[in-house]
Amino acid sequence: MNGIDLLTTTRAFRRRLDLTRPVDRRDLLDCLDIAVHAPSGTNRQPWRFVVIQEPAVKARIAEYYRKGFGAYLSARAPRPDQLADLASGRYLADHLHEIPALVVVCSLGRPPADPSPLRGASYYGSIYPAVWNFLLALHDRGLGATMTTAHLAYEREIAELLGIPFDEVAQVAMLPVAHLRPGPTAAAPRRIPAAELTSWDRWTL
Ligand SMILES: Cc1cc2nc3c(=O)[nH]c(=O)nc-3n(C[C@H](O)[C@H](O)[C@H](O)COP(=O)(O)O)c2cc1C
Repeated sequence: MNGIDLLTTTRAFRRRLDLTRPVDRRDLLDCLDIAVHAPSGTNRQPWRFVVIQEPAVKARIAEYYRKGFGAYLSARAPRPDQLADLASGRYLADHLHEIPALVVVCSLGRPPADPSPLRGASYYGSIYPAVWNFLLALHDRGLGATMTTAHLAYEREIAELLGIPFDEVAQVAMLPVAHLRPGPTAAAPRRIPAAELTSWDRWTL
């Protein structure tokens, strides 16, 4: 895939995930090697990854995820244009334990509790570029995932389950990885054109 196609067709993959085909550790490590080429503040490379393939552990995480996702759904009144995305999110939640690999992305250090704009930007801005690199690398080799955070309501419980030292390391995202079943690779829809979101020389939006 050329670079522009990869950037414009990498989506939240949920229903296209192949639940029957195992994912090779080598593929995961190769994609994580691309993830770690991302930038981070002063190049501190805060990322750490825990890959879960053990069915019993995936099942426990999926339970927490479903509780978190359910709470998220019941706390909001979705707009009509969000319904399809939420239905696809429900599908992912229902099948999470069947997904071949769950990659938990962690960052060294707890997120600042009351961050200045600089510290907040530095903390999350030093980890999410690696998450996105990973998603692009997966897609480039026919795998896919969705950026998820619904499990974070139970971050402490999942840290205990996985042996992550909660006081020193934060979980920031979980990526449920699988091979992609064949399907159309259309550009991500529902994006507002940049021209409508951009002003020149001063804010006119
Ligand atoms: C910070 C962040 C958190 C997200 N958390 C979840 C999640 O917990 N569960 C989920 O199914 N999707 C989650 N998503 C995926 C978004 O719903 C998805 O990226 C968005 O709807 C665009 O989808 P598209 O690229 O397929 O158009 C998250 C995305 C981001 C950026």
